[in-house]
Amino acid sequence: ENPQLTPFEIFFKEIEKFSKLHMKDRDRVQEILQSMQKAGSKTLQVISDFDMTLTRFEYNGKRCPTCHNILERSDAISSDCKKKLQELLDKYYPIEIDSTLSVEEKLPLMVEWWTKAHELLVNQKIKKAGLAKAVKDSEAKLRDGYQYFFDHLNEHSIPLLIFSAGIGDILEEVIRQTEVFHPNVKVISNYMDFDESGVLKAFKGELIHIYNKKEGALLNTGHFQELRTRTNVLLLGDSLGDLNMADGVQDMENILKIGFLNDKVEERKQSYLDSYDIVLIKDETLDVPNAVIRFLT
Ligand code: C5P
Ligand code: MG
Repeated sequence: ENPQLTPFEIFFKEIEKFSKLHMKDRDRVQEILQSMQKAGSKTLQVISDFDMTLTRFEYNGKRCPTCHNILERSDAISSDCKKKLQELLDKYYPIEIDSTLSVEEKLPLMVEWWTKAHELLVNQKIKKAGLAKAVKDSEAKLRDGYQYFFDHLNEHSIPLLIFSAGIGDILEEVIRQTEVFHPNVKVISNYMDFDESGVLKAFKGELIHIYNKKEGALLNTGHFQELRTRTNVLLLGDSLGDLNMADGVQDMENILKIGFLNDKVEERKQSYLDSYDIVLIKDETLDVPNAVIRFLT
């Protein structure tokens, strides 16, 4: 007996083969995907975090930089300031990924981290003209499969919102230098404000940190209003705070949430399985999101 498999069954068997892929509720994931496929790619939008979601967490056993790290480690920053920024990272990153603390406990500490780091950066008189070099010299790396991810979404005119608590100017430079900053990409992030002579004087607007992406989304109603016919969402993140990135989406019908679990895997696995539909454990590629968008388009 050789039963004919439907295209959906073939696709689903394929993604289930990924050894790094975990799901709490396989039936629910199937339901969401089938419903999204039925609705068609004209109803799809993608919302993704940037650092450690579109970029790699590790490469050759070494940690890869976040947007902040790219700038902090560049020659735009004095060695004394580098030391202070490193101390902040050593103090606050363990808090960010601590599974024994609640969001309420972490939130004020995260605000403190971002605020202190931005203050230090503003005092460095960073020049706008130096950002491209900082990115070029850095070890920033998009996840394997990024080319297909960005190009395919653009070819199918599927909007990609990159929603990042990192630094917008740096993030844009990373995707510009890798030639994937296509017209379907919109970025919500922390942007630098430069004076007339091109020197950093502040950060613009409301601070976005990892636990206020809901507020960030609600400040951008115009964007979500434009996309109101795109009622199906593929969300990619690496932090539990990223789950709120879609809170501004209007008339949402389905959402498939894919989460990268990069660090403190054992401690955080259950909470990730409880909140993301698909969890990718220590996967440095975009293979699963790519398989999903290939199937949906
Ligand atoms: O793009 P995304 O929202 O992931 O950016 C936030 C990340 O930036 C956090 O996960 C945090 O670890 C990192 N960060 C940093 N240095 C700071 C503040 C945040 O590397 N000063
Ligand atoms: Mg992230």
